[in-house]
Amino acid sequence: MEYRTLGRTGEKVSTIGMGTWRIGAEGGHLNPREVESLRRGFEIGVNLVDTAEMYSSGNSEATVGEALEGMRDKVFVATKVSPSNLGYDDVVAACGRSLQRLRVSQIDLYQVHWPNPQIPIRETMKAMEKLADQGKIRHIGVSNFSVEQTREAMESLSKYELASNQVEYSLTNRSVETSLMPFCRKENVALIAYSPLSRGNIQDSLVPRSLVEKYSMTSAQVTLNWLTREEGTFAIPKSAQAKHIEENASSVSVRFTRREYDEMTGGLAIH
Ligand SMILES: NC(=O)c1ccc[n+]([C@@H]2O[C@H](COP(=O)([O-])OP(=O)(O)OC[C@H]3O[C@@H](n4cnc5c(N)ncnc54)[C@H](OP(=O)(O)O)[C@@H]3O)[C@@H](O)[C@H]2O)c1
Repeated sequence: MEYRTLGRTGEKVSTIGMGTWRIGAEGGHLNPREVESLRRGFEIGVNLVDTAEMYSSGNSEATVGEALEGMRDKVFVATKVSPSNLGYDDVVAACGRSLQRLRVSQIDLYQVHWPNPQIPIRETMKAMEKLADQGKIRHIGVSNFSVEQTREAMESLSKYELASNQVEYSLTNRSVETSLMPFCRKENVALIAYSPLSRGNIQDSLVPRSLVEKYSMTSAQVTLNWLTREEGTFAIPKSAQAKHIEENASSVSVRFTRREYDEMTGGLAIH
């Protein structure tokens, strides 16, 4: 398992985490298979799990909460507040509900899911700092923020550092490479790649056969390895299957050479 420091937080987090969008969707009931798959991930050392109050109307957080039973100390729990809840009081109330569903006393990374142009970033960040002061959250992150919005979030924080920005990054969506990725690298804000496997539409044709064969990896593994080729980058593939979670976790057990990364990057058209 490879671990990296998450931005300026000093926290060691697995480069490959677990996403949970569409997990827990079965009419309010928890799916034991999903719970067991997440637990398998924790057992093999995947310590980053990402959820959101919005996912499956809270049932994704509840599934993560169930999976954490007896394993809380092994896991770095990331969740998100919805764009409709970014007013000061709403952030505080939403965090309370997430803590309950997750059955934890503290969220490790609390992220703004999407910016809301109706609510000033400064107001949301003030609420985040209050939650951090109270010990309800440990670190503050954002998601789907542009360079300008990320900078504004950083400047709005007076006592804490911005830990991360979670953005779409995959072989089929490389738009972050132009400016957001260099900005995050320079500012030491972690970049967490969501939908890294193009929502399951894995792009065999964009994955060099030479790497698949040399490293005996699947196309998904080569993709995850390449996406996390830079130090400050993490990926959170979603899987409800233990075998895929194991496969994804071992995608960074070896690293390609710089030349192989460059060749793969150079051979891909920017989308
Ligand atoms: N911040 C945001 O706005 C935002 C937006 C979207 C997603 N996210 C986060 O990012 C996470 C991941 O993104 P995503 O769920 O959109 O899509 P994804 O991770 O790119 O793809 C998930 C799909 O890939 C399949 N899969 C996983 N590992 C595989 C493997 N090794 N081989 C073959 N298929 C595999 C999964 O099926 P199985 O379950 O059958 O394995 C699932 O259908 C989400 O769950 C969520 O936590 C955040």
